[in-house]
Amino acid sequence: MEYAATITGTGSAFPEHRVTNHDITSKLAASDIETSDAWIRERTGISERRFSKPGNPDEHNSSLGLAAAQKALEMAGKTPEDIDQIIYSTCTPDTIIPSTACWLQHKLGATRAWGMDLNAACSGFIYGLTIAEQFIRTGQVKTSLVLGTEILSSIINWKDRGSCILFGDGSGAAVVERAPEESPHRILSSHLLSDGSLWELLYIPAGGSAQAATPDIMAQNLNKIQMNGREIFKIAVRTLSTFAMTALEKNDMTVDMLDWFIPHQANYRIIEAVAKRLQLPMEKVLVNVDRFGNTSSATIPSMLDEAVRDGRIQKGHTVLLDAFGAGLTYGSILLRW
Ligand code: ACO
Repeated sequence: MEYAATITGTGSAFPEHRVTNHDITSKLAASDIETSDAWIRERTGISERRFSKPGNPDEHNSSLGLAAAQKALEMAGKTPEDIDQIIYSTCTPDTIIPSTACWLQHKLGATRAWGMDLNAACSGFIYGLTIAEQFIRTGQVKTSLVLGTEILSSIINWKDRGSCILFGDGSGAAVVERAPEESPHRILSSHLLSDGSLWELLYIPAGGSAQAATPDIMAQNLNKIQMNGREIFKIAVRTLSTFAMTALEKNDMTVDMLDWFIPHQANYRIIEAVAKRLQLPMEKVLVNVDRFGNTSSATIPSMLDEAVRDGRIQKGHTVLLDAFGAGLTYGSILLRW
């Protein structure tokens, strides 16, 4: 017997510390690197982001994950013991070993669950939700907790003004549960792809097993993000549009049947260009990049949580999630709330 998977609870959490464009401008000025609030707003749509305080255990990756997970469980009316599985998307884990999923499981007291980390960069929540759906569909798992959580402030390259302005920290979580196969409220389809040939567009050369982060390497910031923003911009607009259309076509739906579109929040101009291509009015596009910057795999679940809690997303609404990220990775999910 097959089942369907449905999201029954969402949660999100951000560090307290707000970092404005003026704060970034002052920080860069100390290294003789020029930027401005006006440039950042115009070229990215970002006004501020949140950074966790280094060394503060309450703002570790798994601590933000814990806060988001607790809110999602409360909304779903579930306890930590109800969770069978934790899929934790992050490219900035607390530690390499153990996984951040294990840290979270321990902090949450989800004693019946098994958990794992997954790294698909900004597409991670879409990949995680797809994995959870597959386990639920086959009956192996009844209740899954899926997270996207990042402390991108730990990997920002402060020598590169093109990328350091973009990123922030945050977490989003979803409780995903078993539903009857024909339930109207379910994940309708998911679509994933990776293209490793484009690795060079966004990567961190050192700090993994291939290249140690020696003092010399660190002095060159090679353990931090290296990005070709202009190239990614073009690919992002193209692939987000393609993956949105693939999900709609798979379900015999058209753009006008969508209630909400939640694209990955990397740059407001990317979001606007995709909406234009899809001929989707911006009123149906959910945006939080202005307040939180790009929080990688946390952008989509945190945006989803905000819109569920403030009542924009209502029971029966059709919602399209759509992402691209380092790898490169791509993915979309169409669901009925
Ligand atoms: N302040 C002032 N000037 C700047 C800054 C800055 N912070 N950054 C770049 N510039 C300058 C450049 O040096 C360049 O100057 P030049 O013309 O004299 O050479 C000029 O602005 C234009 O540079 P572009 O790179 O063409 O600027 P663009 O409009 O493309 O904006 C940006 C750059 C914001 C990086 C954009 O390309 C972008 O958002 N790309 C997508 C990035 C992205 O999505 N990354 C995340 C991937 S997902 C993940 O997995 C994390």
